[in-house]
Amino acid sequence: MKTILITGGAGFIGSHLVRLFVNKYPEYKIINLDALTYAGNLENLTDVADAPNYTFVKGDICDRQLIADLFAQYRFDGVIHLAAESHVDRSIEDPDSFLHTNVYGTLNLLAQAKKSWTDTSGKLFYHVSTDEVYGSLGDTGYFTEETAYDPRSPYSASKASSDHLVRAFFHTYGLPVVISNCSNNYGPNQFPEKLIPLVINNIKNKKSLPIYGDGKYTRDWLYVIDHAQAIDTVFHKGKNGETYNIGGNNEWKNIDLVTKMCNIMDKMSGNAPGTNRQLITFVKDRPGHDKRYAIDASKIKRELGWEPSVLPDSGLEMTIRWYLDNITWLENVTSGSYLEYYEKHYAR
Ligand code: NAD
Ligand code: DAU
Repeated sequence: MKTILITGGAGFIGSHLVRLFVNKYPEYKIINLDALTYAGNLENLTDVADAPNYTFVKGDICDRQLIADLFAQYRFDGVIHLAAESHVDRSIEDPDSFLHTNVYGTLNLLAQAKKSWTDTSGKLFYHVSTDEVYGSLGDTGYFTEETAYDPRSPYSASKASSDHLVRAFFHTYGLPVVISNCSNNYGPNQFPEKLIPLVINNIKNKKSLPIYGDGKYTRDWLYVIDHAQAIDTVFHKGKNGETYNIGGNNEWKNIDLVTKMCNIMDKMSGNAPGTNRQLITFVKDRPGHDKRYAIDASKIKRELGWEPSVLPDSGLEMTIRWYLDNITWLENVTSGSYLEYYEKHYAR
């Protein structure tokens, strides 16, 4: 019997992780703490909302009293920390909230875990982080767990800071911790400010498909359910104090990925080939845009036996199909403040 606090469980990756844990571990108690910012959405979890081993708490990870009360009430054995501001473009426009949530919020959780876990046996603080902390690669090479940190956006600087704090609590106070740094996720329930769902939503609405700069920037894409399974593996098998890189071994230049999506969606809707491609529009580049991310995920495969299982083509088709089958979800999340953000951001 374990009681686990998952933070950010109403967001994209968090909701897939909550579903996996609630269904796979009926003997665990899962507490999902989420502030329900623009990116958090309880519609992502309607299928598990009434499960007997699941509790949702609306609240902010920066709220000291709330975190103290939750640790006292539930006596957590583990924390899996995903709550964060997660979008690079927003961090360029407004770094404050990123520093507050990602750095101070993480510190607040660490400090309470240290205080509450006077006996650390069977306890674990797991910080879910990003490959962006490593900076930017040239045309060759991969990020390993030994790559020096070189964050270049306010988002990645805030995630790097939180990683450092987690390691500081391990070294200074002996808090049991584990960190994973993952590449770009895609799949159902991702907020359509990120490239893949944004392209699906814009094709559906016959709006232009904005490609930053020359479109030759490269990302390593991982299907979100593979990431949730990797987190499950690291949580249960990872070694105290260790870091694990997680990646899809699935590199795409943005322009090639978007072209492929245009072609898939032309086929799905019976358009003449090339119809959607006409929507592609090259726009002003993202400031400080990292050229390429690529993960060497050999450590997690060798030591813990995890590797991605979803093939790139089927992952992309499943994702597009999910959005087209869940138009109400898409319409709900793109109403309200979404349009305001979109108009302002793309008018730069
Ligand atoms: P997301 O933006 O979809 O979800 C973040 C969740 O955190 C939301 O539900 C939001 O309401 C919640 N949240 C934000 N601020 C909060 C606060 N102060 N208190 C409580 N809850 C708060 O993000 P995501 O894409 O699911 O990413 C989850 C985690 O994984 C993040 O830590 C991110 O850095 C990391 N990550 C993401 C990716 C990716 O490709 N999306 C890749 C690697 C790592
Ligand atoms: O690598 C992991 C990271 O991946 C996570 O830590 C972040 O939380 C997540 O947002 C993601 O960051 P990126 O900046 O790589 O993702 P995004 O979807 O914003 O952009 C992917 C690529 O597409 C990037 O090179 C920028 C480009 N892009 C993005 C948007 C939104 C465009 O060309 N046009 C766009 O409109």
